[in-house]
Amino acid sequence: MSKVLSVTSECAPLIKTGGLADVAGALPNALAAYGDAVRTLLPGYRSVMPRLGKTKVVGTYDDLFGGPAKLHACAVAGLDLFVIDAPHLFDRDGGIYVDAHGHDWPDNPERFAALSFVAAEIAASGADGWTPDIVHGHDWQAGLTPEYLQAAGTQTPFVFTVHNIAFHGNTGADRIDALLLDTDRFDADHFEFWGQISALKSALMGAAKITTVSQTYAEELLTPEFGMGMEGVLRHRQQDLSGIVNGIDEDIWNPQTDPDITPYKTAAGKAANKKALQKTFGLGPSDGPLCVLVSRLTEQKGIDLLLAALPTLLENGGQLALLGSGDPRLEVALLEAAAAHDNVAVKIGYDEALSHQMMAGGDVILVPSRFEPCGLTQLYGLRYGTLPLVSLTGGLADTVINASPAALAREVATGVQFFPITAQAFTNAIARICKLHQQPKLWKTLQRNAMSHPVGWSASAAKYHAIYASLSKASR
Ligand code: ADP
Ligand code: GLC
Repeated sequence: MSKVLSVTSECAPLIKTGGLADVAGALPNALAAYGDAVRTLLPGYRSVMPRLGKTKVVGTYDDLFGGPAKLHACAVAGLDLFVIDAPHLFDRDGGIYVDAHGHDWPDNPERFAALSFVAAEIAASGADGWTPDIVHGHDWQAGLTPEYLQAAGTQTPFVFTVHNIAFHGNTGADRIDALLLDTDRFDADHFEFWGQISALKSALMGAAKITTVSQTYAEELLTPEFGMGMEGVLRHRQQDLSGIVNGIDEDIWNPQTDPDITPYKTAAGKAANKKALQKTFGLGPSDGPLCVLVSRLTEQKGIDLLLAALPTLLENGGQLALLGSGDPRLEVALLEAAAAHDNVAVKIGYDEALSHQMMAGGDVILVPSRFEPCGLTQLYGLRYGTLPLVSLTGGLADTVINASPAALAREVATGVQFFPITAQAFTNAIARICKLHQQPKLWKTLQRNAMSHPVGWSASAAKYHAIYASLSKASR
């Protein structure tokens, strides 16, 4: 049983841009079942502060990277939180990482150094009468924590989870003093990376254990194709690297109780939801499968492959309903496709309730990512009997069982995978899933398999618990 400080830049239901928030929001409760007590440290963004309710101020800073700050303790939505109220860093319009024009905030290094710094302070001196046995950081935003733990002279073990290696949190070496870093440690063994300060490198070198969000991504990270320059560092740390696949919150994503849909127990109950979804998106009835996609619109997510495969989907009587936002060029291309075809509908924006309706009403959930550390929407799809069509990479490889002849014969298939990750292979996969959809009996079996595939947190929480336990014991 360990006391764990989870350090994260987002956490559902308070603040979310992607899957990291879902993981940070769900894991504490899953770990409670194993006796671990998690408190989560989060920046007090403008939209977060008013949602905290009653808080207790458990720390004050005269100057936290450029201004005064307070540390609040509170409980919200079943989470025990520490929240950093530092208006000069977090009280602003725009996104949590980017301004209204989509550019990174220029002071992101300081903003997330503050998060990591406060984490180390809590580990060193405690807060609210509580001192963690373990600090668990997520992605580069928590990456400088080992440096600050070292400076504070505390031995508290640091666990680091890579949710996406694409983001390094690099900044110029001229910021060493501003970030309160130790010049003597600006070297290859600590936070220096090709002459820059790298928060990610600091975490990868300083963590007692490194995890990432699927077994396959843990292997991919060691290769130049996926390691994004960090493959050498990760190979160096390979002994301490493991993959633990994400789960989903089975209370929030439960077709039997979901308040945003017409609830159902078996896939037969999807018909009413499909009809409603077609109406929402202005689509008519269709013979082929209604394919849905819910995603950030970035290069990672393979949206261009989808655009290339659209004609094949439409020729097979299929439909597309897409919800997402991000890269303006992709948004425009998708809206143009929707304008050109009756059976293509696109909503640009972020809409949690609609994302649930899409899982309930879709026949197929598309995830054609170029790389995908874990991916969550294919897991929602499995739970809702919406068959995943995914690229063979990262967590998509680990969570979907491809409808190969062998898997079909053994009645274990849950979806369709494609490889290589090209427009041609994706197009072929679209044709393949449309064929499967024409065989109602087989489709029902696939849906049944999907809906009974385990997607909860229990098994993975046990693995985090084991890591914490081994480190707590070793540090005693
Ligand atoms: P990533 O973290 O790389 O964005 P994941 O699949 O792990 O990818 O998680 C994405 C999460 O964000 C899922 O919970 C998904 O439903 C949600 N999401 C993404 N875009 C939207 C959107 N436009 N509206 C609602 N939810 C979205
Ligand atoms: C990242 C990854 C995604 C993963 C999520 C949560 O944003 O892109 O694959 O599911 O983190 O771990």
